Amino acid sequence: MAAPREAAARAEALRAEIERHNHAYYVLDAPTVPDAEYDRLFRELQALEAQYPELQTPDSPTLRVGGRPLPAFAPVRHALPMLSIRTETDAGPEGAHAFDARVRRALGLDESAPPVEYAAELKFDGLAVSLRYEDGVLVQAATRGDGETGEDVTQNVRTIRCIPLRLKGAPPALLEVRGEVFMRRPDFEGYNARQRELDRPTLVNPRNGAAGSIRQLDPRIAAERPLSFYAYGVGETRGWRMPSRHSEVLDALAAFGIPVCEHRVVAPDAEALAAFHAAILAGRDALSFDIDGVVYKVNSLALQERLGFVSREPRWACAHKYPAQEELTEVLGIDVQVGRTGKLTPVARLKPVFVGGVTVTNATLHNEDEVRRKDVRIGDTVVVRRAGDVIPEVVSVVLERRPAALAEASPWRLFDAVAGKCPVCRSDIARLEGEADWRCTAGLYCPAQRKQAILHFASRKAMDIEGLGEKLVDQLVDRDLVGSVADLYDAERVDADSLAALERMGGKSALNLVEAIAGSKRRPLARLIYALGIRNVGEATAKDLARHFGSMERLRQAGIDELQRVKDIGPVVAESIAAFFREPHNGRVVDSLAGAGVRGEPEAAAAGRAVLQGLTFVLTGTLPRLTREEAAALIEAAGGKVSGSVSKKTDYVVAGEEAGSKLDKARTLGVPVIDEDGLRQLLES
Ligand code: IVH
Repeated sequence: MAAPREAAARAEALRAEIERHNHAYYVLDAPTVPDAEYDRLFRELQALEAQYPELQTPDSPTLRVGGRPLPAFAPVRHALPMLSIRTETDAGPEGAHAFDARVRRALGLDESAPPVEYAAELKFDGLAVSLRYEDGVLVQAATRGDGETGEDVTQNVRTIRCIPLRLKGAPPALLEVRGEVFMRRPDFEGYNARQRELDRPTLVNPRNGAAGSIRQLDPRIAAERPLSFYAYGVGETRGWRMPSRHSEVLDALAAFGIPVCEHRVVAPDAEALAAFHAAILAGRDALSFDIDGVVYKVNSLALQERLGFVSREPRWACAHKYPAQEELTEVLGIDVQVGRTGKLTPVARLKPVFVGGVTVTNATLHNEDEVRRKDVRIGDTVVVRRAGDVIPEVVSVVLERRPAALAEASPWRLFDAVAGKCPVCRSDIARLEGEADWRCTAGLYCPAQRKQAILHFASRKAMDIEGLGEKLVDQLVDRDLVGSVADLYDAERVDADSLAALERMGGKSALNLVEAIAGSKRRPLARLIYALGIRNVGEATAKDLARHFGSMERLRQAGIDELQRVKDIGPVVAESIAAFFREPHNGRVVDSLAGAGVRGEPEAAAAGRAVLQGLTFVLTGTLPRLTREEAAALIEAAGGKVSGSVSKKTDYVVAGEEAGSKLDKARTLGVPVIDEDGLRQLLES
């Protein structure tokens, strides 16, 4: 039955509207209608086409969901070959100048000739395709293949939502658009997460994800994969008054509704190319997709023609690389580290590899499930990724490189690797129902946890004890000088003499540390609460608790209900706090801290007296009435900082009798020197 005229008109209107929404959603990133409305329009069109198959045009959005599987891809001969580009291996700024020099030489330009204008773009990392639009309708999509002949992947490419099935405006009779199909990192991660939930195979990386999807014979597979596309040039055209510059060609494609990446510039000379290379490198981690470099092109199409090709590579373009963010290396071992809360973290020990600009020797494996999921085994070759400042991670195992003997071994298990014992204190380990992590059950008995607890206590956002770093804490704990954070304030254990006996500690730094510890005694309550390292209590929660309870004692006495009355505190956090204080050891630590004068200053007082906020003091010599500790505590309580050594950053040196080298240093650096009375005046100001 032939379609009635109204049905044909409705189908046409639906096609246009659906494609408009697609463009708004996938290209402009600005959806115009709710998903439900989009689905309704889509289903209406599907129903019409099912009733009247002749209404399904080659640009119908219903083709985007993927048709029937193909027996094989048909070959497509490219009217204009799809070329590759020469890669400038030099990853430094010289690469841009080397390219410019080659171009100028080939054009016979001497030094006095004006600079050559370039277009600079990103080098997308996916699969090159050519899209053929006849009278504005997408009729064919082909892969690059060997450059002469590719494969017909039209069905798959139609499933890519950001590729228009019909061009906007007044498109030419024939337009071949060339560009790259790729996958954005969040799409890749989301897809893999869904696959994992369904127990289905995951993609190795975004690039394989893109290339593999396009080369699937079953278009429904491509339809499920979140692919993107950016155009970077044109092939054959007919009936088009082509602009005279490459940058304008891309502008024109964008006006036809084709996705063109916004990160591109017209560079007036080689210097601007090098600047683009540097700017993109700096912003690389903020991009939502991976790039392995940038591409430079001579902007004038007339000059491009004059320059021509050498062995399939145009003389007018080149790729300028960046250091790789992913590399292959070998897993030498899997260590298990113990964190502050007793969490056991598997860490891959790696054969050193240069990736993302640094040499990486370790990469976190997060937890046992992660190791199992990736099936990392000692002796495997793995992909290591380091992007920006993010800690290096093992992305995947290259199974083809797995040694035969290893393939037969069983997967790595944390429990077996440590024989069920904490690698530091040999206590039992446990993994609670529903948790991803194994933990050492020994709590603060475990030296590893104690060390982490002390480091956390002393850290900048907690009690801010300058100079109490990892090496020192290791020694203090290993020599039994410090068993808990309260011991830090026990003068019988920690004094200048005992500290000076440690490695890497001179008498002077020992004294500084003693002062820093004393100076930390009167930190505000919020800092002290945070410093205790209660599970689930971060800085913000600690502040809320301090404000609500006003003293450590009241916090300690609070029941679960009272705790839950504090803003933002739910049952989980309330339970961690209560559990912390139920533990007798923790109660003793809090008592000893209070005994040593570390009770947490009330918020209001701490804030109200912050007259020394932002000022750094150094104490030296014997003051007439105050001990050094008392002076330090007064300064701290008023928001000031006490440092052990004089530098240009010191605001005041408070000097008493027999002040020594610090006083001399203050004088040479021109730092103001005051006495005890001067300090009192400042405090009262
Ligand atoms: S232009 C005549 N521009 O890199 C020059 N290519 O080896 C043809 N690529 O196969 C390519 N981003 O898949 C060009 N902005 C860009 C590109 C780009 C990625 C890929 C393309 C090509 C390969 C070159």
